Amino acid sequence: MSKSEQLEQIASEVRVCTACLLSRGRTNAVPGEGPADAAIMFVGEAPGFHEDQQGRPFVGAAGRFLEELLASIGMTREQVFIANVIKCRPPANRDPLPEEIVACQSFLDRQLEIIRPKMVVTLGRFSMARFFPEARISQVHGQARRFEGMVCYPMYHPAAALHQPSLRRVVEEDMARIPELLGSTDQITEYEPPPQAEQLKLF
Ligand code: URA
Repeated sequence: MSKSEQLEQIASEVRVCTACLLSRGRTNAVPGEGPADAAIMFVGEAPGFHEDQQGRPFVGAAGRFLEELLASIGMTREQVFIANVIKCRPPANRDPLPEEIVACQSFLDRQLEIIRPKMVVTLGRFSMARFFPEARISQVHGQARRFEGMVCYPMYHPAAALHQPSLRRVVEEDMARIPELLGSTDQITEYEPPPQAEQLKLF
C-alpha cells in the first residue's frame, strides 16, 4: 500500500470508530487531511462544531487564523498535513478526557509513523502533551526539540490567540520561525524534561 492509501485506511477506520463515547455524539469524525509526503504536520486538539459538521480539521475561525498564519510563511493548508489528538468533537467543545485521548492515540501515532514529517507543530497543550507531557506551554512554545526521532515545535493553539489578543503576536512570531527551523533541523537538540519531572521519576 502507498502512504496515501495507508492514510486513507486510517481515515476509514476513524470514520467508523466506536472506541469511546464521543462516537455517539458526532456528526462526522475528523481523521485529518493533507499530503502523505508533507514536510510539516500540524496537530490540534479536537474537532469543534464546524469540523464535526464537515468532517475536516480546522475549518472554523481557528482554521481561518491557521490559514492566515500559514500564508504569512508563504504556505497553504494544502501543503501541510493537519490532524488532531482526538478525532471526534467533545460535547460543547470541552477539554478531551484522558480516556478519550488514550482511545484515539493509535490513530495519531500511525499517522505520524506514515508521514514522518520533518517537523510536527503541536497546537495547544493537549497536542504538546503527546510529545512533552511534563512541559508547560508558556515555557516551551516556540522552541523546537527532537523527540523519538521527530522534530517537535510547540505553539499555542490559534483559538487561544483569538480569545486572548495578547497571545496573537506570540503565535505570529512562533510561526514566523518555522521556515528557518525547517532548514536547520539537524541542529535541533533532544528534548530534556524539566529537572522537576526528572526528580519525580525517582520516586
Ligand atoms: N481546533 C482544533 O484543535 N482542531 C480543529 O480541527 C479545529 C479547532
